[in-house]
Amino acid sequence: ASTQTIAAALLGWYDANARTLPWRSPPGSPPPDPYRVWLSEVMLQQTTVAAVGPYFARFTTRWPTVEALAAADEAEVMAAWAGLGYYARARNLIACAKAVAARGGVFPGTEAELRALPGLGAYTAAAVAAIAFEQRAVVVDANVERVVARLFAIDEPLPGARKAIRARADAITPQSRAGDFAQAMMDLGSGVCTVRAPRCLLCPLSHACAGRAAGAERFPVKPPK
Ligand code: ADE
Repeated sequence: ASTQTIAAALLGWYDANARTLPWRSPPGSPPPDPYRVWLSEVMLQQTTVAAVGPYFARFTTRWPTVEALAAADEAEVMAAWAGLGYYARARNLIACAKAVAARGGVFPGTEAELRALPGLGAYTAAAVAAIAFEQRAVVVDANVERVVARLFAIDEPLPGARKAIRARADAITPQSRAGDFAQAMMDLGSGVCTVRAPRCLLCPLSHACAGRAAGAERFPVKPPK
């Protein structure tokens, strides 16, 4: 299957099967507020979608804008973060909010500019650029890594395989709808192309999946002990 066929099949599946999540807009509709995208992506780096829900709701109710968060009492933010873990991330969150507030509360719209904000790493910059700004960015988290390793039957073990996985993810990322594409890959990884017992019969990419014949579960190959 061509790379375009893969993106089209995945986006078609997402149009019908996207999870409804508080920080998302429906497939094919205008992107959500960058502040909400950024906040959710930072929270989701260490915690599951289900666990993030209540934290996201509390944060966005208490601090509805990045400027409100920038002006927040730090101890209150840390207290609201309690339970999400990695307190350095909460401190980075505040530093980043202040930097965006200093720009008039407007997040920059490209991956490179986002990456330059304090505490904003490569993953978050790509995710926010794609999801909030509809930029073509290659978004690779653990779910995407697994989907891509299986789709292309990447035999090299992790962590060395990450370079090939990223190159393949880049090759299948479409010019438009990169945010929907990224989130479709995440939903596929969390609900269909699962770590154990992947549901290949439900997968919109099974026709194109090189890993399926060999047993999708064996990818990504674990590092030798
Ligand atoms: N994990 C990280 N970001 C996500 C998103 N935008 N949707 C679903 N799962 C995610």
